[in-house]
Amino acid sequence: MTEILKVTGLCTHFFTRAGVVKAVDGVDISLNRGEVLGLVGESGSGKSITGFSIMNLIDAPGRMTGGRISFKGRDLSQLSETAWQDLRGNRIAMIFQDPMMTLNPVLRIDVQMIEAIQAHEKVSRTTARERARDTLGMVGIPAPDERLKAYPHQLSGGMRQRVAIAIAFLNKPDLIIADEPTTALDVTIQSQIIHEAQKLTRQTGTAMIWISHDLAVVAGIADQISVMYAGRIVEHGPTDYVIDNPRHPYTYGLLGSVPSANKRGARLFQIDGMAPNMLALPRGCAFGPRCDRAVDVCAAAPGMSQSCTQKFRCHNPVPEAVKVAK
Ligand SMILES: Nc1ncnc2c1ncn2[C@@H]1O[C@H](COP(=O)(O)OP(=O)(O)O)[C@@H](O)[C@H]1O
Ligand SMILES: [Mg+2]
Repeated sequence: MTEILKVTGLCTHFFTRAGVVKAVDGVDISLNRGEVLGLVGESGSGKSITGFSIMNLIDAPGRMTGGRISFKGRDLSQLSETAWQDLRGNRIAMIFQDPMMTLNPVLRIDVQMIEAIQAHEKVSRTTARERARDTLGMVGIPAPDERLKAYPHQLSGGMRQRVAIAIAFLNKPDLIIADEPTTALDVTIQSQIIHEAQKLTRQTGTAMIWISHDLAVVAGIADQISVMYAGRIVEHGPTDYVIDNPRHPYTYGLLGSVPSANKRGARLFQIDGMAPNMLALPRGCAFGPRCDRAVDVCAAAPGMSQSCTQKFRCHNPVPEAVKVAK
């Protein structure tokens, strides 16, 4: 398997007047060709900042203060801004929650897509247009020739996001970072888009990081899952293992709050308390104050433990083979 992305010990901190926010604090990611990593966690846990750090898009008062990012075996820290511009949108693409972050409201879809191809590759307009049309078809857009002539405002929200996804895949990138791309869409459209995106990664070999606050969404697309809490990965492993037997109490709680047919009518489990204040994190395990399994040792920060199947950062993990009621 070809390793596309290797992130080790990534730290991105924000130096604000009120103090230092350790938005990302020692994150590791390893991703092979065609693989999908689901990055999941509550709002404010550091998912987007992880994505932006990989894209080298962190602005003051934020700064990558530590760690190493290697892309196809190449250390990205020494890259010039010109080299970054070529990498972005070409080898690494990003999809945002709001497709209008990608789309220009005053240009027709074909103009934007052709531009996106020609910015990185010397091909004729006709060739570029054909590829644009084919890629629209691949993301499940009916009558792509018609859609090419449209302006963004003439499309529905779901169609616009599909166009943004098509643009991300346009130059056959090695890696796509998708930051909550379906969060604003209704559930049916959401699952269609997840299905198309998953199919595309299989077809093209593009690796993907799919960011979501919703574990159910991530479970539907990802090969492996990393659960993030207060800037750290607290559990990581193949999707099936993490879903069937979560070891970190936070993951367990996230799973318990996912609705399913069998739980219909029953009250959904909720994780007590609020997301922590990133300026004043609790001592030891950041999840400790909300955790019903917390014990004395949790006053010291837990390291990453490894079982045969997954890794988790917890002193008193959920026992093996304790299934979440489904
Ligand atoms: N420009 C900024 N200045 C200060 N703190 C920031 C800034 N951007 C993000 N943060 C902090 O970084 C943390 C992680 O943010 P983010 O990655 O956007 O979370 P999410 O998991 O919701 O995507 C949050 O606690 C947020 O307050
Ligand atoms: Mg975010």
